[in-house]
Amino acid sequence: QNESTVSITVVGASGDLARKKIFPALFALFYEDCLPKHFTVFGYARSKLTDEELRNMISKTLTCRIDKRENCNDKMEQFLQRCFYQSGQYGSEENFVELDQKLRENEAGKLPNRLFYLSIPPNIFIDVVRCASHHASSPTGWTRVIVEKPFGRDSESSAELTRRLKQYLTEDQIFRIDHYLGKELVENLSVLRFSNLVFEPLWSRKYIRNVQLIFSEDFGTEGRGGYFDNYGIIRDIMQNHLLQILALFAMETPVSLDAEDIRNEKVKVLRSMRTLKLDDVVVGQYKGHTKGGKSYPAYTDDQTVPKGSLTPTFAAAAVFIDNARWDDVPFLMKAGKALNTRRAEIRVQFRHVPGNLYKRNFGTDLDKATNELVIRVQPDEAIYLKINNKIPGLSMRLDRSNLNLLYAARYLREIPDAYERLLLDAIEGERRLFIRSDELDAAWALFTPVLKELEDKRISPELYPYGSRGPVGAHYLAAKYNVRWGDLS
Ligand code: BG6
Repeated sequence: QNESTVSITVVGASGDLARKKIFPALFALFYEDCLPKHFTVFGYARSKLTDEELRNMISKTLTCRIDKRENCNDKMEQFLQRCFYQSGQYGSEENFVELDQKLRENEAGKLPNRLFYLSIPPNIFIDVVRCASHHASSPTGWTRVIVEKPFGRDSESSAELTRRLKQYLTEDQIFRIDHYLGKELVENLSVLRFSNLVFEPLWSRKYIRNVQLIFSEDFGTEGRGGYFDNYGIIRDIMQNHLLQILALFAMETPVSLDAEDIRNEKVKVLRSMRTLKLDDVVVGQYKGHTKGGKSYPAYTDDQTVPKGSLTPTFAAAAVFIDNARWDDVPFLMKAGKALNTRRAEIRVQFRHVPGNLYKRNFGTDLDKATNELVIRVQPDEAIYLKINNKIPGLSMRLDRSNLNLLYAARYLREIPDAYERLLLDAIEGERRLFIRSDELDAAWALFTPVLKELEDKRISPELYPYGSRGPVGAHYLAAKYNVRWGDLS
């Protein structure tokens, strides 16, 4: 039998995502000897570049991650020699025929498998998929296509996109990426829950008071205003990254670790979610601000953002899963740009110990004494559990301490970038971390009505200063459900 080869074509090769994430991830996989023996990387974009110019461009963002690796430069050179370029229009049949020619030359004599990574704006997805599937799909091996969000703007447009993609591809060939699913601590979520007796039995309304999913960035949308203004933070972060984490967190035990079994459970959770009401959503937008002599711009100062834009750069939402496990447990999500810190974490607040013997020691604020499990996805990956503990000494005084698993202290190896995990999975045909179309439909069904209402009623976002903790409305929303955001304690 012939040996096989994989050709990876990055469509939109000169874009930001390709340069900053995709090529470096491919190189890291090559460096770690994870790529198949025979592979080539093609960059496809409109600009006229030679192979050499593409290599030059890519080489600027490749890193060896851990400095002083001796053979890194040699490896980089070997990798770059496997990278080629094809310039072409995104909707040009002819240019894809040319690409196909080049792919064939490289594949000579081997079983050809082809992976396309669409790192391009959504309005040209279909053109590319049509041309690629007609003219550049593998004649005898597999053809897979990785697509990046946005997958539409609401239920309707997303369904339309899926329908059109499926004119050219089968569901099996479509790899919808959500890079948060490739993050180490998100992947670990199931391990933590399903293989630890101290957690698994507690994972329900019986012991958990609320769950918080928090995403914050300490920079604004500068440079991406054009894209961002059309989507806003709910579509950019909540509907995908946070909701995917929630689904993994809350799903029932899957039959196995098989992709379909896991995705079946995720979709059930998503479909069990109560329709989100406007009352349970708070939106905000950052305003300009001067601090320590430095001035920070408002969202609307960005030239690419229309004046008077109401697009939220911050949102908080309280969502509920109407099933036996999670009935009435608030899941609070919060996502914002231009806040005081960059962080993504999951916080699980447990209930009170019934008849706590040490009640007196906590004064009136018993809520502060409940256990909290924190899974810090980034930065400084960590898992820690807040417990009550006696302060050593002759008196009986208690405090809260952390049982702490800091990744940097425990695991000396580098944590791979999410794109490495996901690209490798796509090459290997592992679909576990990619979004199936029914999951996508359910995710849109949750947010579409509220997004429409926000836009139809032209709800003004609450302004918050750049670099602050965000709008106070988020605290009122949490208080409505007797919750205190854990990241403030
Ligand atoms: C992207 C969003 O999906 O995720 C960006 O479009 C956001 O707005 C980014 O900045 C955050 O990803 P990470 O991996 O840097 O946390």
